Amino acid sequence: MPRIDASVPIGKIGADMPRSLAVFERFGLDYCCQGVRTLREACRMSNADLDEVLRALCEMTGEAAGSERDWASATMTELADHIERTHHAFARESFARLAVLVPKVAAHHGAAHPELHDLERVVARLREEMLDHMIREDRVLFPWLRRLDRKSEIHTGPPWSVRRPIDCMMHDHNEVGQMFREIKDLTNNFTPPDNACASFRAMVGLLRDLERDTHVHIHKENNILFPAGVRAEEARAGAVHGHAAESPN
Ligand SMILES: [Fe+2]
Ligand SMILES: [Fe+2]
Repeated sequence: MPRIDASVPIGKIGADMPRSLAVFERFGLDYCCQGVRTLREACRMSNADLDEVLRALCEMTGEAAGSERDWASATMTELADHIERTHHAFARESFARLAVLVPKVAAHHGAAHPELHDLERVVARLREEMLDHMIREDRVLFPWLRRLDRKSEIHTGPPWSVRRPIDCMMHDHNEVGQMFREIKDLTNNFTPPDNACASFRAMVGLLRDLERDTHVHIHKENNILFPAGVRAEEARAGAVHGHAAESPN
């Protein structure tokens, strides 16, 4: 169940949970100039469906992690769909905002905070790496895993093991983890300076939320989805051998 209270001012929800801003933007809710309105009022003013907004907030905020379903018992298709809809969508939205925000903050405050120039470089590298990585998951690996889910379907993937793309993705995850550690150091553990302006704070908040979300995102892939793919492929190879045929691998 959503833990977000619709009678709380929308501006406060945005301040407490910066990731909610992406949801507010998507539903066209006014959270800045009219931030004193409750979430319920804001939805009414914008003709947005409150239940839909609450659902989206639950999916988009790590605060809802406790109410998340048990993904270990989901099919690979369900989990891949969920990862694309939530974590991949959130990462893309975050990078779209960071691509504007980080250079702006670095240009304005780089003289007083020279580490911002390093931050700008690391975030640009992270953005390029993660956007490319998600395209490869969306276009190659996840469709492959969905095919492995359909037991009746003849295997139409390349003549090598699904472990190969999985190993590549896990290697990328390690690199992403390293870049987030650099970002954490460069932002003083995601703590803006006391006198930081709103843009500086928004940037640090976004980076912190993206890091948290990426932890959950990678956990679901490395620890749930990918092992399920390896098991499904092994089971399929076993079934093929059982029919006196050779496995393609
Ligand atoms: Fe992913
Ligand atoms: Fe991934």
